[in-house]
Amino acid sequence: MKKILITGGAGFIGSHLVRLLVNKYPQYQIINLDKLTYAGNLTNLSDIEDRPNYTFVKADIADLGAIRTIFREQAVSDVIHLAAESHVDRSIEDPTAFVVTNVLGTVNLLISARDQWEGSGGHRFYHVSTDEVYGSLGEQGYFTETTAYDPRSPYSASKASSDHMARAFHHTYGLDILISNCSNNYGPNQFPEKLIPLIINNIIHERPLPVYGQGLNVRDWLWVGDHAAAIDLIFHRGKSGETYNIGGNAERKNIELVGLICDQMDRKLNRPQGTNRGLITYVTDRLGHDMRYAIDFSKLNKQLGWSPSLTLEEGMETTIDWYLANRDWLNKLTSGEYLQYYQKHYSNR
Ligand code: NAD
Ligand code: TYD
Repeated sequence: MKKILITGGAGFIGSHLVRLLVNKYPQYQIINLDKLTYAGNLTNLSDIEDRPNYTFVKADIADLGAIRTIFREQAVSDVIHLAAESHVDRSIEDPTAFVVTNVLGTVNLLISARDQWEGSGGHRFYHVSTDEVYGSLGEQGYFTETTAYDPRSPYSASKASSDHMARAFHHTYGLDILISNCSNNYGPNQFPEKLIPLIINNIIHERPLPVYGQGLNVRDWLWVGDHAAAIDLIFHRGKSGETYNIGGNAERKNIELVGLICDQMDRKLNRPQGTNRGLITYVTDRLGHDMRYAIDFSKLNKQLGWSPSLTLEEGMETTIDWYLANRDWLNKLTSGEYLQYYQKHYSNR
C-alpha cells in the first residue's frame, strides 16, 4: 500500500493537494507532515481530518533525526514535498530561515528517503517548486524547462538550491525524482500576506490597497485546484528525473489584477462601481522586484494532457466568495502575530 508523505500539507497549496488525494485515493494512506508555522493551519483540513486514510504529524523538516524516525515508523513509500518558507518579502527580511527550511529541510528529506528506500524500488520523491527559479523576463518570452536558472530573491535562490539538490539525488543515488515549477497560485486558504488575499481583506475593511512601485510587474496566475490536479497527474504519470512547468495562461500586470478584484468586490459588496479602486495606494517598491514571470507549459500539456480548467475571472469570483464567506478564518489569521508583521512591513512604505 502507498503511504505518501506530504510535507507542508497544512499550508495553502498543500491543503488542497491533501484533500484531493485523500478523497480520490481511499486506498492510499496520506501522511501530512507540517511544522505549523504562521502559514500552517489545520483548520484548512477540518473537513477531512477524521478520514481513515489521513494522518497528521507535527515535525520540522530541518530536524534530520525527527524526519528519519517518521520515515521509519510510518514506513513512508513516497514523498510529495511542499513545506517551505514561501513569501518573497519575508525572505528579504530574514534570508536565513529560508535556507534552513527550504535548503536544509529538503536535503534532510532526500537523505531520509534515500536511506529508507535503499534496495527497494517503486518509490517516488516529488519536489514542488516555483517558476521564480528562472529569474525575471522582459516583455517577451516564456520560461521553459530548459531555461537557465537565475534566481534573484533569497526565496527563489533557496528554492533553486533545493531543486538542484533534488536533481543531484536523482543523478548520484538514482532516486526517482520529479520536479515541477509552477507560476503564482490563488484560491481559498491562501495566507493573507500574499497579494490576492491581502487585497481582498483590505477591501473588506476599506483599508488602502498597497501596490508596489508602479504596479507594472507581471505575474501568471493559476487556480490552486489546477495546481493540485497537475501534481496528482505528474506524481502518477511523470517520467523519473524530469521537470514539468505548470502555468495558468493568465498573465496580468499587478495593477490590472488589483483592478479586477476591486471591480468584482464593488458588485459583491454593493458598493458603487469605482469605490474600491479609490483605495489603491502606490507604495515603495520591493527590493530587487522581478519584473515578469510567464510560463510555457506545453510539455505538460502535450505529454500528460493537463491544462488550466478556469479563467482568472472565474477563479477570482470563487476566491472572493470564499473569503467573504470565511471572514472568521481571515480575522483569526490577520490578528496577533501577523498584525505586527503587517504594521512593520507597510507602515514605512
Ligand atoms: P504556504 O506558506 O502557504 O505553506 C507552507 C507550509 O509549510 C505551511 O503549512 C508551513 O507550516 C509548512 N512549513 C514551513 N516550514 C516548515 C518546516 N521547517 N517543517 C515543516 N513544515 C514547514 O506555502 P504555499 O504557497 O502553499 O507553497 C507550497 C509550496 O509550493 C512551496 O514549496 C512553494 O515554494 C511552492 N510554490 C508556491 C506557489 C504559490 O504561488 N504559492 C507557486 C509555485 C510553487
Ligand atoms: P506575492 O503574492 O507576494 O507573490 P510573488 O512575489 O511570489 O510573485 O506578490 C505578487 C505580486 O504583487 C508581486 O509582483 C509583488 C506584488 N505585491 C504588491 O504590489 N503589493 C503587496 O502588498 C504584495 C504582498 C505584493
